[in-house]
Amino acid sequence: MTARVALVTGGTGGIGTAICRELANQGHRVVTNYRNQEKAQAWQAEQKAAGFDMAIVPGDVSDFDSSADMVKQVEDSLGGVEILVNNAGITRDTTFHKMSGMQWQEVMRTNLDSCYNVTRQVIDGMRGRKWGRVLQISSINGQKGQYGQANYAAAKAGMHGFTISLAQENAKFGITVNTISPGYVGTDMVMAVPEEVRAKIVAQIPVGRLGDPDEIAYAVAFLAAEKAAWITGANLAINGGHYMGW
Ligand code: CAA
Repeated sequence: MTARVALVTGGTGGIGTAICRELANQGHRVVTNYRNQEKAQAWQAEQKAAGFDMAIVPGDVSDFDSSADMVKQVEDSLGGVEILVNNAGITRDTTFHKMSGMQWQEVMRTNLDSCYNVTRQVIDGMRGRKWGRVLQISSINGQKGQYGQANYAAAKAGMHGFTISLAQENAKFGITVNTISPGYVGTDMVMAVPEEVRAKIVAQIPVGRLGDPDEIAYAVAFLAAEKAAWITGANLAINGGHYMGW
């Protein structure tokens, strides 16, 4: 297989870490970003102890200039980004009638503006090399909406609009662009939902449990593979049957 340079944003999080490890297992050179240096170093040491050699560079994906610096550092040290996973995301859950402008903006900037900020830095290189994989990690709640997540659901739905436009523009350059929409996965983000609310959500999942981060990472590796060249503009739902669109 061809070893590629893979940039996974938000790689230190629950799903992000699993994605980094799975892409490394496929033989790719994996890099992620950090905003908090201390947390990043601890994460990198943890990966090393588990046998993974991950690169990590500073960068705030909600900021265009910071994203430009981040990608420049990656390209200077590893080479052009060939696989980009737009994974970084946050929640600021609250019902809309109580939502502050800050809660709306933080989520839009980190979850949706980030797709512009980071992808814009790598797309010319991918087009020039005539190969690329761009993946958006969206959410079941971008597909079905969620009480308390008008900001998050809007951003996550927006990510797929981004996917299907980029997929059309870049198909002839050997670049595929896809969305993965995970359901409720057992990460810190989901565990922060109040327990009684979470129990009601899990009761709606036909498979009967939260997802495992590895179950999302597996699909990222699949869509990033050379042989996935004819899959573009797709939105892959991985949610234990919680929401079945078609
Ligand atoms: N449908 C209908 N009513 C609901 C509801 C739902 N899904 N959820 C809550 N309510 C009702 C409650 O029963 C309560 O009703 P009463 O006032 O009649 O008793 C009322 O809404 C509470 O409303 P408030 O405006 O007072 O809400 P709150 O401030 O207490 O908190 C909340 C609301 C923050 C949204 C809380 O319910 C919550 O955390 N919900 C979970 C949101 C969620 O799923 N987040 C996902 C995080 S993980 C993630 O995002 C990853 C991913 O991609 C899947």
